[in-house]
Amino acid sequence: MVAAMSTRRSLLCGLALAALAAGCSKSSAPSGAPAAGASGAPATGEILVGAYFSLSGEETQFGKDSQEGIVLATDQLNSDGGVKGRKVKVLFEDTKSMPQEATNKVRQLIDRNKVVALLGEVASSRSLAGGLIANAAKVPMITPSSTNVEVTRGRDFVFRVCFTDDAQGAAAAEFVTEKLKKKKIGLLYLAQDTYSSGLAKTFSEAVKKHGGEIVVEKGYQKGEKNFRTHLDQLMAAKPEIVFVPNYYSDMVPIAQQAKEKNIPGSMFLGGDGWDSEDLLKGAATELEGAYFTNHYAPDVPWENSKKFVAAYQARWKREPSSLAAQAYDAAKLLFDAMGRAKAIEPVAIRDAVAETRGFSGATGTISIDKDRNADKPLVVVQIKGGKFVYHATVNEKRP
Ligand code: PHE
Repeated sequence: MVAAMSTRRSLLCGLALAALAAGCSKSSAPSGAPAAGASGAPATGEILVGAYFSLSGEETQFGKDSQEGIVLATDQLNSDGGVKGRKVKVLFEDTKSMPQEATNKVRQLIDRNKVVALLGEVASSRSLAGGLIANAAKVPMITPSSTNVEVTRGRDFVFRVCFTDDAQGAAAAEFVTEKLKKKKIGLLYLAQDTYSSGLAKTFSEAVKKHGGEIVVEKGYQKGEKNFRTHLDQLMAAKPEIVFVPNYYSDMVPIAQQAKEKNIPGSMFLGGDGWDSEDLLKGAATELEGAYFTNHYAPDVPWENSKKFVAAYQARWKREPSSLAAQAYDAAKLLFDAMGRAKAIEPVAIRDAVAETRGFSGATGTISIDKDRNADKPLVVVQIKGGKFVYHATVNEKRP
């Protein structure tokens, strides 16, 4: 650890001849400039945290919602005096909904801005890309909402505050087979996507354990807009319900085309990727009665969630999505860890995040486990009367 840190430092110093000014050692910091800590991050003044999200492109809503949650958490923290007497500044970067941009932006935040920690991304594909860089640079990263199992696996500096798709797939399978009593199940998912195909797989395995059967399975390609043939083929196998673990952006046309074929909304079951105002705007009537597993719902009966919803509504004049709630939790958990950390530098912050137990968030009580995943509850939400309505809490343990 010590060796790795000093390598990184000498690399930084070696790279820039202006390193003296940048503060490679305390004594070389010019008077007036903040002295640098071991990571190259300043030891005084504002604490810089990097955030990388899809602020444009296909999943813009994911990024914007997350940003609003983080801004709210940061403003609350700073008006309460900050961390160890220092204010926190979050620098936002746009991934344009592309993994390659996630890589670039994380690199930039670490190398150029010297952030002490990172928040991001929403989509698992982009957290995998950004997490690779963060982990190699030994800068802690917390993803609010990337659920694919691989995101944190083997990466000591990468954490999440959401459940994993192992837990989500198991909960969705249990709900559909045991509660809805549907055993003949169809599957429609985005074939090349890490999140969608991963969740389809864990769900299928769990369905079989509960005595259910996947009677038909269709993987579609990114960019497909016409799902009519897939829908015909799915219905031909006479499933009792179809699990569609994709993002809202694809679910809207799927639901609209299903409606043309008189397939009722209750024929569909989704995962957390459905959580967006845009799903309701585009296909609320078409999906009336459908259920999906999620992190949270605005009417969830948890005390901290109610406080969060009120603060969010006061600030942004609308209802928070689960992404906003999760990003709020990721930021707050990070700030809490910074307060407990021995120093405001990446490795000490990483250790404090790893020690988090029983943190009360807007999305439930969160403990970080030994694999850097969050041990927390999961909810089932129903689309009812044009809204997302809390249905049940599931505390399925990870296998
Ligand atoms: N869980 C999704 C992923 O890992 C992201 C997501 C979370 C989308 C919550 C919507 C709501 O890619």
